[in-house]
Formats: sequence, C-alpha cells, structure tokens
Amino acid sequence: MTAAYDEIADWYEERFGGGEDPLGLHAALGELLGTGSGPCLEIGCGTGHNAGTVADLGWTPVGVDISARMLGHARGRLPVARGDAALVPVRSGAVSAVVTVMAHTDMSDFFAVLRQIERVLAPGGVYAHVGVHPCFVGGFADHSDPAAVVVRGGYRETHWTKESWTDQGLRDKVGAVHVPLAGLLNGVVAVGMGLERFVEGGEPVPGMLGILARKPG
Ligand SMILES: C[S@@+](CC[C@H](N)C(=O)[O-])C[C@H]1O[C@@H](n2cnc3c(N)ncnc32)[C@H](O)[C@@H]1O
Repeated sequence: MTAAYDEIADWYEERFGGGEDPLGLHAALGELLGTGSGPCLEIGCGTGHNAGTVADLGWTPVGVDISARMLGHARGRLPVARGDAALVPVRSGAVSAVVTVMAHTDMSDFFAVLRQIERVLAPGGVYAHVGVHPCFVGGFADHSDPAAVVVRGGYRETHWTKESWTDQGLRDKVGAVHVPLAGLLNGVVAVGMGLERFVEGGEPVPGMLGILARKPG
C-alpha cells in the first residue's frame, strides 16, 4: 500500500492538530452526524483529531487509514486499523455511522469508497461527509485574495493535480483529486444512499461542503 501522507504526517499533526478550524469542520461534523451511540467509523481518519467531536456526540469513534505514520499520531485518540478505503476491513452492515473528513480528495477512486461505505453501514445508518468545497477549492481556484477567489476552467473535469496557489497547503505536497459537485452528489445517490442535508463553511467564500446521507432502513 502506498501512503503519500507518511511523508508529511508530522507536519500534518503540527499544522492541523492545534485546534484552529477556520472552515468549521468540527461544527459541520457535529451538525450532520448528530448524537448517537455505537461505533462510528472514520475512513481516512489520519491523525485522529476528529475523534473527540465524534465521542462528544455519544458515538464510539473507530478509524481506518492507509498511512501508518498518520495512524501513529491517532493511536491514543481512537482505536485504528491500517487499511485501504477501497477495501475497508470492516464487516458488512457492522456500523450505524460512517464519516469522512477532508479525505475524499485524497482517494483515487472515491466512488469505490462510497460503495464500501454503503456496504459497512447497517440499514438506516448515516454517512456524514465533510470535505473541501468542490466548487471553490481545487487547482482551478486561486485564493490569493480570499475576498475575490478566481475560479478558472478545469472545474468540470474529474482530475488529479498538485497545482495550488499556495505552498502552505496539502495539495501542493500530496496532490488532490477533484470531483465536480454533481459527480460527488450523484456518486452518493448511485450507491443507493439518500441525500438528507448539506452544510457549507468558510468565509467569505465557502471552502467546505458537508453532506449527510442515509442507507435506506
Ligand atoms: C487530509 S487527511 C484527513 C485526515 C482526517 N480525516 C482529518 O480530518 O484530519 C486525508 C487522510 O486520508 C488518508 N487516505 C488517503 N487515501 C486513503 C485510502 N485509500 N485509504 C485509507 N485512507 C486514505 C490519508 O492517509 C490521510 O490520513
């Protein structure tokens, strides 16, 4: 298994582990996931810094990630297993909740991951996705002036890129897959989950989109 994040795990922990949350990721996760109990699987859990938010809602957080170095930071925050999101090492129908946070753009075939999410969810289970906003974040978008974001051509094509307006982010280091908004929403519908709720975060232009979906009961 290749794991691009192995190279930057320590930097990631330092850069994003400090509690700053300008996009409102934790609030969005809380709003979408809601309170519950039983295991909540985070696919692409990274260093595990969403575990507290999940636990505060009453769920028992468990995580899967492909990067051993990221999981090294996660241990102590939640129980984790190393595994590929395209073949999640979890029994079918075993969990009532799955979350992905800032992870779909790191996965080469997110549609295969959506099929896995639907598979591991129990009937009636919820899927909360919190990710970069496909309309405003990507190699095609220049945020040099946050008040006047420039969105260039390239949005419509699903593609992988390391192109970025800044050298302080993730995309310039590990690259990112861009999936247009319609493709992302259609992907959730295509695996048979129902779309229930959406949230956007970040100012003055949204940088985050959250989606709540549910496996039919
Ligand atoms: C931007 S980090 C997000 C980590 C965490 N969810 C957070 O909010 O901080 C993306 C994570 O997805 C993981 N990842 C990428 N591809 C993966 C795959 N195929 N299977 C499992 N995890 C993967 C990376 O190793 C990395 O830890």
